[in-house]
Amino acid sequence: MTLSGKVALVTGAASGIGRAIAERFAQAGARVLVHDIAPAGSEVARAINGVFLQADLSDPEAVRRLAQQALEAANGRVDILVNNAGFQLVSPVEDFPEAVWDRMLQVMLTAPFQLIKYLLPPMKQQRWGRIINISSMHGLVASPYKSGYNSAKHGLIGLTRTVALEVGEFGITVNAICPAYVRTPLVESQLADQSRIHGIPESEVISKIMLAPAAIKRLVEPEEVAEFALYLTSDKAGVITGAALTLDLGWSAR
Ligand SMILES: NC(=O)c1ccc[n+]([C@@H]2O[C@H](COP(=O)([O-])OP(=O)(O)OC[C@H]3O[C@@H](n4cnc5c(N)ncnc54)[C@H](O)[C@@H]3O)[C@@H](O)[C@H]2O)c1
Repeated sequence: MTLSGKVALVTGAASGIGRAIAERFAQAGARVLVHDIAPAGSEVARAINGVFLQADLSDPEAVRRLAQQALEAANGRVDILVNNAGFQLVSPVEDFPEAVWDRMLQVMLTAPFQLIKYLLPPMKQQRWGRIINISSMHGLVASPYKSGYNSAKHGLIGLTRTVALEVGEFGITVNAICPAYVRTPLVESQLADQSRIHGIPESEVISKIMLAPAAIKRLVEPEEVAEFALYLTSDKAGVITGAALTLDLGWSAR
């Protein structure tokens, strides 16, 4: 499969899933615009001959600037948008800081909306585009103590479905990928909070909390998400749109 001649913007691509997607798309021939708030994004970009665009998605003005910079770096047309950047906070709802709630919704729901809004017109004009939103199985089902995350991820699926209906006639597909727990720093960073809230040792969080509802008891690898994202960019996947596609090891079958 080739993405030769295509330009892809991947948000949150300094680490984890976004990084794996950026690397896989570049390997398939795409020119990748590597976005992140973290300076480490520049190393990822350098390694794949991409372009690093640094922006804090919690600032709506910075998201507008990012869209503008992406279009400038891509001669006015981004073919593939992957809304991936995100973060987690594990906390009971009554202790959940309102500022973190606002930041979570801005980074994981409003910024994807803004990037879609700004990057869509040239996609429509060329009558081809792929928008992939990295939601989560927590976009389809909930776990306790993740009110901000679950709400943003559920909302992202609503946005996915709505935009898919609006742009189908322009050769643009819009899908959400909904993985279970993926082996990334985002998972490692919540082990301590999960251990405290559930009253179990940190060493048992993965087996007792993260893998308990899954049919297949293992973490998803970032490369597995990247391979699936690559498939969604293909012309063969042109019939898949408006879908919330699970890579969840059977979590949501329950
Ligand atoms: N790891 C999992 O288990 C899992 C499961 C389902 C969905 N997801 C989703 O996948 C996406 C990627 O997560 P990951 O696991 O690779 O995590 P990660 O922490 O490895 O990567 C997330 C990236 O997003 C960036 N980011 C965070 N806040 C930002 C901001 N304000 N502005 C710009 N960039 C920002 C971070 O710097 C980081 O590089 C997230 O949306 C996450 O919710 C992850």
